[in-house]
Amino acid sequence: MSDIHTEHPLTRRTVLVAGATGGIGEGMTRALLQQGARVVATGRNDKRLAGLASYVEGAGPGELITQVVDVGDADTPGVRERLTPFGLLDGVVITIGDWGSPERTGILDTTSDEWQRMITANLTSHFHALRTLTPLLAEDGALVHLSGFSAEIPYPFAALVGATNAAKKSLVRSLTAELDGAGPRVYELVIGPIRTRPRAAMGADSSRWFSAEDLGRHAGRLIAGEGPDTAAPLQYLLTREHGVRTTPPQ
Ligand SMILES: NC(=O)c1ccc[n+]([C@@H]2O[C@H](COP(=O)([O-])OP(=O)(O)OC[C@H]3O[C@@H](n4cnc5c(N)ncnc54)[C@H](OP(=O)(O)O)[C@@H]3O)[C@@H](O)[C@H]2O)c1
Repeated sequence: MSDIHTEHPLTRRTVLVAGATGGIGEGMTRALLQQGARVVATGRNDKRLAGLASYVEGAGPGELITQVVDVGDADTPGVRERLTPFGLLDGVVITIGDWGSPERTGILDTTSDEWQRMITANLTSHFHALRTLTPLLAEDGALVHLSGFSAEIPYPFAALVGATNAAKKSLVRSLTAELDGAGPRVYELVIGPIRTRPRAAMGADSSRWFSAEDLGRHAGRLIAGEGPDTAAPLQYLLTREHGVRTTPPQ
């Protein structure tokens, strides 16, 4: 007989996915449901959440609960309760983000407004999400946060994406150090390009890339505390060929 905890390591665990309506979020949600989790999927738009629910329908054995809520809005009465319908969380996945304008612009041509917009959308939002969600985790729970590899390399004509990724990564690394082993585990996953439905629809796809579901299975194992990677708070998942590493591949 198979061991339910190996096959479905998240059985009886609740995992909140912030940004579940996104390309990565929907794939991660599907993988977490397949691993048996009760998934609280959040997004700010009810139509997109309804689309997510139909995309992951039947992906169980886990159970999906959708909540239209802004995870950065912790000070609004009732938000914390809506994020924890079953009590403290066993896992949190933060996969919110903003790619900025599709028209790529050099630093010297970037307006103050666009700078401010990206700082708000792709950095302040993560600060608020971390501040809201970390205290909602059980002491033996785990938070998984994603940043792009543009945090570490020059990213010409998309410098604000790179700069906000670098700052997001720094925030999460500092949070890990501040917790200093007390309370939930915190993982920063620095990712390369990921196979998602929206990216594929735009013609960007490669079998060398990890898929959103791969990330979800990996996050599920981290949350369940299974496997050798659970001891590494900083991980690089750039391509399948490189696998999971604790330092960037040269
Ligand atoms: N896909 C990739 O290949 C790749 C590679 C490297 C890094 N990343 C990073 O991974 C993250 C997710 O990527 P993705 O491709 O899934 O992006 P996506 O498809 O654009 O989805 C992002 C989701 O984040 C939510 N969101 C956006 N701004 C928010 C805010 N200010 N507050 C709360 N939620 C917000 C949106 O949900 P609602 O509007 O429905 O609330 C949206 O569905 C991003 O940070 C991205 O930079 C992705």
